[in-house]
Amino acid sequence: MSSQTQVKNITLTALQRIKREGGKFSCLTAYDACFARILSAAGVEVLLVGDSLGMVLQGHDSTLPVTMDDMIYHVGCVKRGNLGSLIMADLPFMSYASESQTLENAAALMRAGAHMVKLEGGAWIANTTRLLAERGIPVCAHMGLTPQSVNRIGGFHVQGRDTDQAQLILEEASMLQESGANILLLECVPQSLAKTITDALKIPVVGIGAGPDTTGQIMVLHDVLGISPITPKFVKNFLQDSDNGIPGAIEAYVKAVRSKTFPAQEHSFN
Ligand code: KIV
Repeated sequence: MSSQTQVKNITLTALQRIKREGGKFSCLTAYDACFARILSAAGVEVLLVGDSLGMVLQGHDSTLPVTMDDMIYHVGCVKRGNLGSLIMADLPFMSYASESQTLENAAALMRAGAHMVKLEGGAWIANTTRLLAERGIPVCAHMGLTPQSVNRIGGFHVQGRDTDQAQLILEEASMLQESGANILLLECVPQSLAKTITDALKIPVVGIGAGPDTTGQIMVLHDVLGISPITPKFVKNFLQDSDNGIPGAIEAYVKAVRSKTFPAQEHSFN
């Protein structure tokens, strides 16, 4: 039998408290009601309805084709399965290009069931972050490798390896906190940079491919189940050692994050 610990109404305040107390919390992507229920029941604090659904579910080679209609549909599915996790939803590519678009699209995600929105960028999303924060919409700012900019970055590569770039990411992270961001997500940055930023900010920092020192860890669901076509260095398959199928794999992921055994050095970048 599994030892499921059902989460009840996780709030930003609860995540902030985990940060203050030096704890860890887990996040996973979720795109439908069935998995939302399993993840939530296993104690995953944050369910991200990520625009990664464009690659994972729809088979595109980037997140760029994902539309607001796609996001609204999947947020609704996740809301119906959720047992109390905090639901974060991505504002997809070009859905926050202007102020009016940002407000309209963020409101649509919140109406569909999201508790907060995530958007990608550095200094240039500071005003957008402030706009949303002032209107009561919590924001997660996604920095480091930002997949919506894959064509500018030139591929899915580790960011912030040189000193100037690392300093810029640190300064812009701090600027986004000042602008009202409630969570910072760092994707594919050296673990030392993720630690510096986590220590410097008051808000929780969530990492993917960012080493063991961030407050939260996030992974794409299909990666932890070992069913993605590619396996980046920062991924661990939790299903292969599970004695209770998918629920057991998710519980093992939650436990590994809380006990700080995942990610290990082998999953981190220098
Ligand atoms: O869309 C997504 O799944 C994400 C994660 C990779 C963090 O942004």
